[in-house]
Parts: sequence; C-alpha cells; structure tokens
Amino acid sequence: MQEYAPVKQGKVREIYDVGDNLVIVATDRISCFDVILDNEITNKGKVLTQMSEFWFDFTKDIVPNHMISTDTSDMPEFFRNEKFEGRSMLVKKLSMLPVECIVRGYITGTAWKEYVKSQTVCKTPVVPGLVESQKFPEAIFTPSTKAEIGDHDENVSYDECIDYLETRFPGKGREYASKIRDYSLAIYNKCADYARGRGIIIADTKFEFGLDEDGNIVLADEVLTPDSSRFWPADKYESGRSQESFDKQYARDWLTNNKDHSWRLPEDVTKVTIDKYISGFKMLTGRELR
Ligand SMILES: Nc1ncnc2c1ncn2[C@@H]1O[C@H](COP(=O)(O)OP(=O)(O)O)[C@@H](O)[C@H]1O
Ligand SMILES: [Mg+2]
Repeated sequence: MQEYAPVKQGKVREIYDVGDNLVIVATDRISCFDVILDNEITNKGKVLTQMSEFWFDFTKDIVPNHMISTDTSDMPEFFRNEKFEGRSMLVKKLSMLPVECIVRGYITGTAWKEYVKSQTVCKTPVVPGLVESQKFPEAIFTPSTKAEIGDHDENVSYDECIDYLETRFPGKGREYASKIRDYSLAIYNKCADYARGRGIIIADTKFEFGLDEDGNIVLADEVLTPDSSRFWPADKYESGRSQESFDKQYARDWLTNNKDHSWRLPEDVTKVTIDKYISGFKMLTGRELR
C-alpha cells in the first residue's frame, strides 16, 4: 500500500496530494482566540466536512466546485479506514486564485470596528447609521489578498483586487475579479436565505476559488462551515450589540471565565461544544452525521 504524508498541516485541516487530486481532511482540533486548544472536539471534523459537502451540492447550479467524493472507498487505500471516514474530501487539484472572497451580510467584527472609526468597511464607504450586528441593505463583497507565509492577509478594494489578479494572470484580472465577486454574492445570498429559514443567520463567510485545467473558475476549499463563517442563532439575534456564535461561544465563555485554563477544556465543556456543532449541522442540512 502506498503511504501518504500531509503536504500541508493547517491549524485544523491536513492536505494530502494524491496526484491529480487532493484529499482534505478536517481534524477535531479547535482554535479559540486564535490558539489551538489542547483538547480535541470529537467529531468536529466530520461536521465541517459533511457541512461543506452539503453546501457544495446546494450551490452547484451557481458555480462548479472541486468536490469529487467524501466516500473513502473512492480514495487511495491509505485513506480507507476509520481515521479518515466521514471527515475527508477527495477534490480536484486546482490552481488557486490568491484571494479570500469575503462576503458580509451583517456588520460585525473588524468590519464593525472600521465602520465606527471611518464609516467605511474594507476602505469602501457604507450607508450611514448602522448599529452593531445590523444587516447590510445588501450583502457586500470585501476581498482580501492571501498572504504568502508569514505575512498577514490584506483587505483590498475591488479595484485593487482586479490589479492584484492582473499581475498574476495578465489580461484576466478584470474578468476573474468580477466572476469571483458575482459567484461569491450569489452563493452567499442563496445559502443565507436558506439558513435563515432554518433558524441560523450566516453573518459573514469566506470563499476560495481556483482554476481548472481548462481555465474555468471553480469553487474550492471549505464552504460555509463554522470555521469559515460566523453563524448566529436567529432566535437570539438582536442588533445593537455583539452576537453569540453558534458553535464556539460556550468554549470561549468558559475560557474567559476560567483564567487558569492553560488552553484545556474540561470534558463537560467539550461535550456541550460538540453538541452545538452537531445541532447546527442538523438544523442546516436536515441530515444525521455519519
Ligand atoms: N482544490 C484545491 N486545489 C488546490 N488547493 C486548494 C484546493 N482547495 C483548497 N486549497 C488550498 O488548500 C489550503 C488549505 O489550507 P488551510 O488549512 O486552509 O490553510 P491556509 O488557509 O492558511 O492556507 C489553502 O491554501 C487553500 O487555498
Ligand atoms: Mg484556509
């Protein structure tokens, strides 16, 4: 049997190169306040992978995507075991566009901080008079350039996004920028509408796209997971203040209230946390976790 080692280990995910394709594996690691905790949240990776799988299918009428299969029997033998089941995606290897396609439906986080200072979001003027967590009149596209290792991602205006893509793909900057903007907004709007009907607000999210061998733009990475998005429980939503996050709030609150935590959660806290991930998954997808 051929053995594989990850070509990349992210905070949460591990990427394996299997020729023309990649296997992206979501682990059970969790980061809070940008720190990877000592504990794992058992099955969290399965929630992330199976949620992405659901959304890829839900949005395939808008844009093609990289998903091939989440069934390990479609993957090399190395992956056909319990360690990988339910949490791995076999995807088409793409040439990635180095832009994080952020869509914001509600004003929160760094966008809210910037707005309070300058009435702009990502350097672009926004309607006056919004309060914290308020819904924008229309969702906005606020791209950032993907940093080379060690640098920070940088927010860019739409015109800067065109220029940035143009330097890497001469003659294509304008076309690629407008396509990834339009796809991102269309996916967000469709999925946020759907999620709202199921009791979850998708406040904002991040997409990534790549090019296939024919130069087509393809939706890649993970889609609309709690790691790439802010999910809020709709029944607790109230503008004018910050919102509880669907998945991590409980763990974050515990860490805040227990200063001697040394980045380790007690078992009952990890239990409540996974229950929240799974209940969010069921609300959104109507599926059971496998
Ligand atoms: N289909 C794909 N082909 C090639 N690269 C991909 C594909 N899907 C996702 N990626 C890349 O895989 C990597 C996933 O790594 P990740 O753990 O998110 O770390 P980071 O975002 O810090 O690079 C990202 O660089 C992402 O752009
Ligand atoms: Mg990433």
